[in-house]
Amino acid sequence: MRVGMKVAIIGAGTIGGAIARCLVESGQYETVMATRRNARKLSDLEKLGVVVDLDNRQAAESADLVVLAVKPSNVLEVVGEIRNKIQSKVVLSLAAAISLKVLERAAPQTRFVRAMPNIAVLVRSSFTAYSPGSGVTSEDKRGVEEVLRTMGVFAEVEEKHMDAVTGLSGSLPAYLFTIVEALMYAGIKVGLPRDFSLKSAAQTVLGSAKLILETEKHFAELKDMVVTPGGVTIEGIYELEDKRIRTAIMRAVEAATHKSKKIAEFLGQES
Ligand SMILES: NC(=O)c1ccc[n+]([C@@H]2O[C@H](COP(=O)([O-])OP(=O)(O)OC[C@H]3O[C@@H](n4cnc5c(N)ncnc54)[C@H](OP(=O)(O)O)[C@@H]3O)[C@@H](O)[C@H]2O)c1
Repeated sequence: MRVGMKVAIIGAGTIGGAIARCLVESGQYETVMATRRNARKLSDLEKLGVVVDLDNRQAAESADLVVLAVKPSNVLEVVGEIRNKIQSKVVLSLAAAISLKVLERAAPQTRFVRAMPNIAVLVRSSFTAYSPGSGVTSEDKRGVEEVLRTMGVFAEVEEKHMDAVTGLSGSLPAYLFTIVEALMYAGIKVGLPRDFSLKSAAQTVLGSAKLILETEKHFAELKDMVVTPGGVTIEGIYELEDKRIRTAIMRAVEAATHKSKKIAEFLGQES
């Protein structure tokens, strides 16, 4: 596969629509196609140059790479519909809880790659984990990685970890929205103006994440740079530890992972 290829996005809703934008804005793709059931909602993508006047089968037929961005409950119906148009092609499935085994059973002559992005793809900052299925070549992987690169940062992972990825990076934006909202209210509680409080909380999350990634320092070292003995920050840390914040966060990820596994088991049995 090569950059300059034609990509079809089947199910251009929230995530699929954002990917179509990433691909067009990258300027690397000859043609980007997008479908959804309610085609009238594709007009914004059409204005960007996305080809939207095709049905699923036509789009899949014209594409070198197909991105499946429908909800997990619609995946098998769509794969069934386009099965003979994706033979010998690579299909990138973004659906949570739909295993490569289920996909390969539904379309045995197609090479599938499973990926889990997150909602930050809307600002081209997704962390996306991906797992190649059987028959996927290194050239296929390069083609998929080019697509993932337009969406943010990516990493390959064994498929057995996909439920955990769904519980961590797939769901994390929602946990962080909850935390940043709480921080915004915390700022308001201690007298900061609302907009200032929101911006200072969100920007500090962004800056702290960059510090973790760019310095690769141990958390103890990072915290030591902020916490002064007998100072201000340790008072806040003491309250967080007292409320067992680490356990609460670990439990959230564990519960989401468990739910993803349960849904995967259910959908696997259904197929
Ligand atoms: N949202 C997230 O944070 C997130 C994160 C990681 C992974 N994912 C995965 O990404 C996938 C999409 O999620 P989403 O949040 O973007 O959902 P969404 O906004 O509901 O988008 C799904 C799209 O699929 C379209 N669709 C349904 N049946 C179709 C069909 N037969 N043919 C063509 N299009 C069809 C829908 O079209 P209409 O609306 O026009 O009916 C809708 O636009 C899911 O599998 C999810 O597991 C989502």
